[in-house]
Amino acid sequence: MKDPRRIIIDTDPGIDDALAIAIALKNPQLDVRLISTVAGNVPVSQTTENALKLVEFFGADVPVARGCEQPLFRVLECSTYVHGKDGMGGFEFPVPVSKPIEKHSIIAMRDEIMSTEEKTTIVAIGIETNVAILLKMYPEVKERIEEIVIMGGSMIGGNVTSSAEFNFYNDPHAAEIVFRSGVPITMLGLDVTNYGRLYTGTNEKLKKSGREGQMFSAILEKYVAGTLETGLPVHDVCTVAYLLKPELFETDMKHVMVQTEGPAAGATVFHRRPEMVEGEPNVKVCTGVDEPAFEEWVVSQLCGEC
Ligand code: BDR
Ligand code: CA
Repeated sequence: MKDPRRIIIDTDPGIDDALAIAIALKNPQLDVRLISTVAGNVPVSQTTENALKLVEFFGADVPVARGCEQPLFRVLECSTYVHGKDGMGGFEFPVPVSKPIEKHSIIAMRDEIMSTEEKTTIVAIGIETNVAILLKMYPEVKERIEEIVIMGGSMIGGNVTSSAEFNFYNDPHAAEIVFRSGVPITMLGLDVTNYGRLYTGTNEKLKKSGREGQMFSAILEKYVAGTLETGLPVHDVCTVAYLLKPELFETDMKHVMVQTEGPAAGATVFHRRPEMVEGEPNVKVCTGVDEPAFEEWVVSQLCGEC
């Protein structure tokens, strides 16, 4: 087996974040070095508490660092209407005994990335604020980042406005900074992650598969991003699926820009005429997912005992 891939997860748990974190912690091909939290689905005090709850629930030994409270310029609009007031659909996890580390997550990310010559991948499944500031404050990290794999944006319409997806809607300026950083970026936008779905059958399997499966099932049943009957999109899970099983996705290199102001703020726009744009395309965009194979793979990751 290859050496596991070093990753940092920047996240705002969040029910779909929780599933992505669970898969990353459980899969031996990933070495999760740090969980960095950011405000998003709920305020950062709550996303940090949720990250600690998840790490303890899975018995993992991974530091959690607390990050930014607000986007760069906009005022955060949380999505408790999707993830519940506590971001975890009200599931009663034990109160965490551990604390976040003392460093701000931007410093913690920098230290972790610079601690070895080996490259680190950032899995960014919340707003891009921490990652954008990291790249601006410590540009030396760029050479040591293998890739930033992002859940955010959309090539055909949003889930907050008709143009903008939640993570990019909340901090479009940060997303634009990341896209222009020169670091290799893979984008899993809403138009693809909307088809990274789980259905009732999977939920039934999870329910019967012990303590972890019961927790996954309980939070999925409270997740208002769709329904299990018609398919519940677990957006953030697509990032770890892409890392662990890239053949599930189709990709294409594109020139992508982020609209930062105005009524379409947070929209991602790609140029259809690459020959008219100077320089290389800046983003590997996922353009499709094998929906049945994705669900089957998620089941294999989340419920070993099913
Ligand atoms: C994204 O927004 C959040 O609510 C989810 O956790 C995901 O990261 C989907 O638009
Ligand atoms: Ca998220």
